[in-house]
Amino acid sequence: MTQIGIRKTIPTLLFLVITARLDEAHKSQESENVPTSQEASPFDAEYLDRVWGGLSWKREHEMKTLNITLHLKIHPINPVAVLWEPATAIASYLEESCEENNNWVRGKKVLELGAGLGLPGLAAACLGGNVTVTDKPELLPWLQHGIDLNLKSIQNTSGEIRAEVLIWGDDEKIRSMPRQDLIIVSEAIYDISTVDDLISTMVRLSHDDTTIIVSQGVWIEGSTLEGAWTKFFHDSAEYFEFSPLPVEYDDSISFVGKVRKTSNTEEKISEISPGHTEL
Ligand SMILES: C[S@@+](CC[C@H](N)C(=O)[O-])C[C@H]1O[C@@H](n2cnc3c(N)ncnc32)[C@H](O)[C@@H]1O
Repeated sequence: MTQIGIRKTIPTLLFLVITARLDEAHKSQESENVPTSQEASPFDAEYLDRVWGGLSWKREHEMKTLNITLHLKIHPINPVAVLWEPATAIASYLEESCEENNNWVRGKKVLELGAGLGLPGLAAACLGGNVTVTDKPELLPWLQHGIDLNLKSIQNTSGEIRAEVLIWGDDEKIRSMPRQDLIIVSEAIYDISTVDDLISTMVRLSHDDTTIIVSQGVWIEGSTLEGAWTKFFHDSAEYFEFSPLPVEYDDSISFVGKVRKTSNTEEKISEISPGHTEL
């Protein structure tokens, strides 16, 4: 076959394979009474497993020091349920810093905000943390699925993990939660309208010695994403001090850093969280 012949043939074959796969998925929906795409939530892990299960939407993360492989199922289309590089960077940082620093996560209360698939939270649980991974309600099946996939690894450590709904700024929910020793925010600062609520949640759920780790991917200059990050960095500087972490990360990440509460944070928080009274 000539080179031109090959070039023409490959796309045709790909098209045929994809069409056949979609047909199969459609048939299996009918035969197994799987909800149709209109009925099924795009976040429904069980639905995706049955329809797309033959395709590999799986990702793995190695925790070499613990000899653990974390397994995650990612979403084929929806960008909130993919695994972002900043999450991988935090998971690696937690592992490395625990090795260097006497397993500092062990026994700590850990909260991941906007967790998506919850990789850093899963890593923290394997390091012995008492972890709560949180997100919007539609992400809960994905978080729970990640926990179920890795339960054995977590049970072999002294860690614990649970998934809960926490929408930033939800006063009732925040009041019901204890202050945390470690808060993780990975790739979650992209919507300027949620920045105030995120900052107030971070403040209200942290104490003076809480470690907060924030990581963020690159943004395009002048984009809405850059606007959200600039606001977060600017506004939260009133409550927190930022310092970059000594983490090696690739070009897709702009910031991995530690955030520490400044001394007068508690007095200021009522300004950005008007309904707030001291917990
Ligand atoms: C780009 S994803 C990042 C997911 C994950 N942290 C990671 O790094 O792979 C952003 C996440 O933030 C969550 N999120 C956005 N706004 C939120 C809000 N107001 N309250 C709670 N979660 C929110 C989204 O649902 C989504 O899971």
